[in-house]
Amino acid sequence: MAFKENSSQRGIVGWIDNRLPVVEATRKHMTEYYAPKNFNFLYVFGVLSMVVLVNQIITGIWLVMHYIPDATLSETGMPIAFASVETAIMRDVDWMWLIRYMHEVGASMFFVVVYIHMFRGLMYGSFRKPRELVWIFGMLIYLLLMAEAFIGYVLPYGQMSFWGAQVIISLFGAIPYVGDTLLEFIRGDFVISAATVSRFFALHVIALPLVLVFLVIGHILALHHVGSNNPDGIEIKDHLDENGKPLDGIPFHPYYSVHDTFAVGIFLIIFALIVFYAPEMGGYFLEKPNFDPANPLATPSHIAPVWYFTPFYSILRAIPSWFGTQIWGVIGMGGAIAVLFVLPWLDRSPVKSIRYKGPLTKILLTLFVICFLVLGYLGVVEATAGRTLVARLCTVYYFAFFLLMPIWSKLDKTKPVPTRVTMK
Ligand code: HEM
Repeated sequence: MAFKENSSQRGIVGWIDNRLPVVEATRKHMTEYYAPKNFNFLYVFGVLSMVVLVNQIITGIWLVMHYIPDATLSETGMPIAFASVETAIMRDVDWMWLIRYMHEVGASMFFVVVYIHMFRGLMYGSFRKPRELVWIFGMLIYLLLMAEAFIGYVLPYGQMSFWGAQVIISLFGAIPYVGDTLLEFIRGDFVISAATVSRFFALHVIALPLVLVFLVIGHILALHHVGSNNPDGIEIKDHLDENGKPLDGIPFHPYYSVHDTFAVGIFLIIFALIVFYAPEMGGYFLEKPNFDPANPLATPSHIAPVWYFTPFYSILRAIPSWFGTQIWGVIGMGGAIAVLFVLPWLDRSPVKSIRYKGPLTKILLTLFVICFLVLGYLGVVEATAGRTLVARLCTVYYFAFFLLMPIWSKLDKTKPVPTRVTMK
């Protein structure tokens, strides 16, 4: 069969488009992607996640040019990795302090935008049929993001890098039978050492980001296949015009491209303010002990992970070491994340969006948010008997919220859902 040149484009773009349909793909997934017309500001956080992802990749490339993944000691007595960050990057090479702070603030901002993005999904039932796979891709991204952030934090090889890694990696040792072997496999040594830093470097700069990018592509393709949800939780594909376009949909460009560009602008202003005026965020984004080089002989008085891990860290600490093993805490922490994967099958409410759910859902969801924030706070501070009790209560609530969802989501009184989207 003769090769037909049927692209609407001319010149070099047309030549490429006839061989690889880039123009058609851009139309389908960007400019002419029909999105519900009732999106609110919570719908900018997906795009903001992408902006932060790009920021992390670009600043990361520049950091790699000066960072040295070597935990052995230099002649100054500091680990070479630590010196490459604190001396070369932060002091010697022009503007590298800015790149480093953009990467470090970017890590925390990634979690800020992703947590809001996930919460939006929870509110509007965006995880439910037919978007289960969009949600599962999202959860895989979230899991990978946590691994990426944890591993990245070890690289500067400060005190918190070392001791944080010590606490978290040693958890794998609690797994029966394979624990010790697994520990050795992860560290590449019997202790955290130069071997650990070099393998973490390889994972942080290439393996995990590569998978992350593929997962994000899968996330978007899955979403575009079924179409976006919206604050009303209505399927806009149920009402099409004579051309097969959703009556309640508008093309992404120019409507949402303008809307999102504005949001990106506001976000970048906030981002710049943090980078220039509060890059450590009082020790929440970059903990104070990490300005000291890693010292295996001196444990910091208080070891706490960075804020985005603390709800799960609290769950880990709240669960007692029954029979002398920490495995229960590890199971609890893993279970707290695993339960989110099956969320699409837990919610049995006849309606998707919080707008049409009843008071029971609203109260239970509010309590869930409070518990999550309390767990987050408790994970930052030192554990006392009183705080452990509160953490235990919040942990019980966390699991009850999800595991009893099939029951309470059915019991709740719902409001009638309109057939077409509403504009407020
Ligand atoms: C690198 C991280 C991520 C990126 C770049 C990203 C990107 C996006 C984008 C661009 C959209 C479409 C715009 C929007 O609805 O906001 C979207 C939708 C969505 N994302 Fe993500 N996402 C990420 C992480 C996650 C995570 C961790 C979850 C949940 C576990 C998640 C769940 C969803 C859901 C359910 C939708 C559909 C929302 C709807 O149609 O109402 N995403 N994502």
